[in-house]
Amino acid sequence: MLGPVILAASRSDRMRRLISAAPVTKQVVDRFIPGETVDDIVPIIKDLTGKGLELTMDVVGEDITTPEQSHAARDAYLALIDRLAVLDLGEQVEMSVKLSMFGQALEGGHELALANVRQVVVAAAAIGTTVTLDAEDHTTLDSMFAIHEELRKDFPQTGCVIQAYLFRTEADARRLAAAGSRVRLVKGAYKEPAEVAYQNKHEIDKAYVRILKILMEGEGYPMIGSHDPRLISIAQELAHRAGRKPDEYEFQMLYGIRGDEHLRLAAEGHRMRVYTAYGTDWYGYFMRRLAEKPANLRFFVRSMISK
Ligand code: FDA
Repeated sequence: MLGPVILAASRSDRMRRLISAAPVTKQVVDRFIPGETVDDIVPIIKDLTGKGLELTMDVVGEDITTPEQSHAARDAYLALIDRLAVLDLGEQVEMSVKLSMFGQALEGGHELALANVRQVVVAAAAIGTTVTLDAEDHTTLDSMFAIHEELRKDFPQTGCVIQAYLFRTEADARRLAAAGSRVRLVKGAYKEPAEVAYQNKHEIDKAYVRILKILMEGEGYPMIGSHDPRLISIAQELAHRAGRKPDEYEFQMLYGIRGDEHLRLAAEGHRMRVYTAYGTDWYGYFMRRLAEKPANLRFFVRSMISK
């Protein structure tokens, strides 16, 4: 019940101002967003990659309102890529981007987002790595898939995300499960209406398995974005049945969630990529993490009361 309320709050400016200014928030936020600057995040990149994990880096931010903010988003990713070049980690560290942080929703925003993300993709390719386009709410997806297709003409390794809760996703998965494509499947983290998305956890999980089957049996590279132990073992079984070797798919989880499982899967010889977010504009990302697990909200509220 609480999830949809928190997701609604994640889009409220008033709540954003309130929560962002709360005195104890930072310490609670750090669990999911372990740094604000590139300097903060480099030691974490070194630590996790040293443990055999792969990473996808997210500079937090979304729903910008001016073109200048789109250029700033591009520059933040380029600064990160400059530092990664020195670390020489290649595809062990890739980037995840949200197109709404690149101005997708502004007037002329589709072209603006494409132009600025393209520069990030070019820079990533120059250091031997790639970019994955995150999936946001359903109204943004046609534009996201069009940008993905455009980028893939020159950079076929550019990835994208699909969300199991949307009715449209089985068809998207069939289209995307082609040679050379990289597709991350997640359950979906936004508040979506019943006209476009399953609302019930059981139905979402069943859709996840159907779509995962399409990806595993296809010719692309599936990226299993989930912490759900049942789905992770089903993914292993489907990969086995499809005759895929461990380097022909990968698991992905979020920083701060089931960290022991990241290490366990990596130790078993799986590719395990940790989605690691950093930056100052953490509100939307943080609220989605609260919505996914009500216990997080209780912890958050307790920490404010005990202050
Ligand atoms: P589920 O929510 O059923 O959780 C399974 C178990 O994992 C829980 O029982 C709990 O133990 C643990 N868990 C899950 N979330 C937790 C949390 N917040 N705090 C603590 N424990 C938690 N969504 C989207 O719409 N667009 C996107 O681009 C992405 N990108 C993305 C990348 C990666 C790498 C991951 C792992 C996830 C995303 N997501 C996303 C988020 C995704 O849609 C979904 O909301 C979360 O992954 C939670 O769903 P699970 O599959 O983990 O299952």
